[in-house]
Amino acid sequence: MKFYVMTLFPEMITGGLSYSILGRAIKSGIVSVEAVNIRDFTEDKHKHVDDYPYGGGAGMVMSCEPIERTYRHLCEKRRLRSRPRVIYLTPQGRVFDQTMAKEFAQEEDLFFLCGHYEGVDERVLDAIVTDRVSIGDYVLSGGELASMVMIDAIARMVPGVLTNEESGSTESFEGNLLEYPQYTRPEVWQGQRVPEVLLSGHHAKIEEWRRQQSILRTWETRPELLDGAELSKKERKFLEEIKKNSGAEM
Ligand code: ADE
Repeated sequence: MKFYVMTLFPEMITGGLSYSILGRAIKSGIVSVEAVNIRDFTEDKHKHVDDYPYGGGAGMVMSCEPIERTYRHLCEKRRLRSRPRVIYLTPQGRVFDQTMAKEFAQEEDLFFLCGHYEGVDERVLDAIVTDRVSIGDYVLSGGELASMVMIDAIARMVPGVLTNEESGSTESFEGNLLEYPQYTRPEVWQGQRVPEVLLSGHHAKIEEWRRQQSILRTWETRPELLDGAELSKKERKFLEEIKKNSGAEM
C-alpha cells in the first residue's frame, strides 16, 4: 500500500512514521509513505502557498494552484488509471474510527491533503478530495498529525504489517470492547499483587476473567460501545450485575 501526503511539512511525516511497527513495515516494503512539499509546486518567486481570505477575516487560506499541481504531479508519476482516494484532514470531516481504517486499508494508493492556516480554498477541495476526515472533536494546527494518526491505524490493517501476535489487540477493539489490563513481572510491585487468576495457568479461567475485565472497562469509560458488542449469555448476566451495582437503570 502506498501513502502520499501533500503537506507544507514533509519532514514531520517521514520522521514521525519511521519508528516501531510502521517503521518496520516501511523498511520491509509492505507499505510506503511519500511526503510531498506543496511549496515545491509554487510558481512565484516567493513560493507563496496562501493568500488573504475573500470576504475578510483572520488568517490566510491555502491557494488552489500549488495543491492541484502537487496532486497532478503525484497522479502522473504513479500513472494512476482511476482517480485515487484523497483524504482531506479537517475537524469538519467524518470522525475516523477502526471501521474506516479497515475500509481505507483496501486501497492500493491513498492520498492525504494536510491543510494549514485558516483552511484551504474550497474549490480545490471540491476538485480533488473524495473524503473529509476528522480524527476527533478538537482543533489541531494542521493536518499533519492527523494524517500520521490515520496512516498508522490504516497500515496496521494491511496484511503482513502486524505479526500474528500483534494482531490480537486490534481484533478485540473490533469486538466493541476495550482491552483488558495486562501485567508483567514482578509479581508484587509496591505492595500490589498481580491478579491471582493470571498466575493460575488455567487458560479458560484467564480468558473468562479477561473478557469480564474488558466488559467492566467498557462499561466504565465507553458504555455506548457495548450496544455493538457480542456477549455470551453469561457475559450479559455479568454486565447486568455491574450495572446493578453501579446503580444504573437497566
Ligand atoms: N486539522 C485540524 N484539526 C483536525 C482534526 N481534529 N482532525 C483532522 N484534521 C484536523
